[in-house]
Amino acid sequence: MGPIIPTLVQQEKLEGDFRFKHMQVRVNAESAAFYRAGRVEQMRTDRILQELLRTQGRLVTRELRLYIGVNIFNYLGSIVSYLAIAIPIFAGRYDGLAPADLIELVSKNAFVSIYLINCFSRLIDLSTTVSELAGYTHRIGELQEAIGRLSASRGRRGASTLEDLPPSHESGLDSEEEEEGEMDGQGQSDHTAFILERVSFTAPWSEELLVKNLTLKITSGQSLLIIGNTGTGKTTLLRVLNGLREITQGSLRMATCFGPRGILFLPQKPYFTDGTLREQVIYPLKEIYPLSGSADDKRILHFLEATGLGPLLKRTGGLDERVGWNWYDVLSPGEMQQLTFARLFYHQPEFAVLDEATSALTEETEAELYHICTHLGMTVVSVGHRSSLEKYHDSVLHLLGDGKWELSAVQHHT
Ligand SMILES: Nc1ncnc2c1ncn2[C@@H]1O[C@H](COP(=O)(O)OP(=O)(O)O)[C@@H](O)[C@H]1O
Ligand SMILES: [Mg+2]
Repeated sequence: MGPIIPTLVQQEKLEGDFRFKHMQVRVNAESAAFYRAGRVEQMRTDRILQELLRTQGRLVTRELRLYIGVNIFNYLGSIVSYLAIAIPIFAGRYDGLAPADLIELVSKNAFVSIYLINCFSRLIDLSTTVSELAGYTHRIGELQEAIGRLSASRGRRGASTLEDLPPSHESGLDSEEEEEGEMDGQGQSDHTAFILERVSFTAPWSEELLVKNLTLKITSGQSLLIIGNTGTGKTTLLRVLNGLREITQGSLRMATCFGPRGILFLPQKPYFTDGTLREQVIYPLKEIYPLSGSADDKRILHFLEATGLGPLLKRTGGLDERVGWNWYDVLSPGEMQQLTFARLFYHQPEFAVLDEATSALTEETEAELYHICTHLGMTVVSVGHRSSLEKYHDSVLHLLGDGKWELSAVQHHT
C-alpha cells in the first residue's frame, strides 16, 4: 500500500494542473490566436498531459502489483485448506475411516477453512480501497490545512461580503430612504473607511518592503489618488486594504463594511460572470427581484445610458435577454470599464476603491464618470497614472518605491 498513496496524491495534483491548463487556453483563446501561439500552447498542454499519463501509468503498475498480491493470496487460500487436511490424512491419522466417512471429513474441514480464509482475504482486499482512501484523505487534508491557515489569519478581521447582507440592502430606492435615518444618527459627514497606522508591507514572495510606515486615514468626502511608477505597490496597497494581503508591521482597521452604503472595490482587471446584462450590473448581488422591478430597471437603464453603454443595451436587446456570449470576448476594454462603472453607480457605495478604472477611456468619458461619482456622493480612492485624475481628488499619495511615500493635498483652482 505504501507506494500507492504518494503516487495517487501526485496523480490528483497533476490532473488538476491539466484541467487548469485547458481552462487557461479556453479563456485566453483570442489573445493566444493573435500571437499565433497555437503550437506553443499545444506543446505545453501535451507536456502536462504526458507527465500526467506517466504518473497515471506508474499508479496503475503499483496498483497492479497490489492486485496480483491480493489475488494470489485469495487463490492460495483455497489450496491451503486442502493442504491442511491432506497432512493428517497422509500421515495415517484417519486410516481407520471408511472412504465415505473420509469424504465427509474432508468436505467439512474444507468448508470451515475456506470460510475462515475467505473472511481473512476480505480484509486483505480492503487494502486497495484503503490505499486510495488514504491518498484522497491526504489531498483533502492538505487543502484543509491551507484553508485553516487562511481563516486563522483572516479571523481577526471579521471580513464580510456583499452576499451576507440581508435582502433589505439588495438595491431599490425604497430601502435607501429607510437607511438614511440611521446614517444621520452616526454623523455621516465624517465616516471613516480605513485607518492605517505605521503600516508596512511587502510584495508576495519578496522580503523587500514596498511601503514602510504608512499612516493614513480615509474618510468620507476626502477622496484620495494613489500614484506611482509601475510595480511600486499601488495594487498591493489596495489588496492590503481589502484584507487580501497581510501587513508585516503596524495596524490597519477597516471601519466600514463592504457593500452598498459601505466600501466597494473595483479590481484592475474587470470581472464579469456569465449571464444577462442585468446580472453584470447588479453583480455581486444575486437576482432576487421579479425581473422587471420598475424602480430598479429605471436606475439600471439610467446608469447604462450615463456610462455610454446605450449601444450595448441595443445589442443585447434588453436587460434580461439571455445572451450566451462570453462577456470578455464581446466587450472592448473600454466598454468593460464603462460597464464596471455602471455596476459601481448601481450599488452607490459610500466609498469606491478604483484600480486604474479609467485607463482605457478618453479623458472626456473619465470626467463624466467622476462627475457622476461626486454627484452620487461617493468618496473615491483611485489608483491611476494620468495627471488629469488629480483634479477629482483632495489628496495624493505618491508611492516612490523602496518603502518611501509622500502624501500631499491637491490645490483646486476653481
Ligand atoms: N501575485 C504576485 N506574486 C508575486 N509578486 C507580485 C504579485 N503581485 C504583484 N507582485 C509584485 O509586487 C510588486 C507590486 O505590484 P503591484 O502592487 O501590482 O504594482 P502596481 O503599483 O503597478 O499596481 C511588483 O513588483 C509585482 O511584480
Ligand atoms: Mg496595479
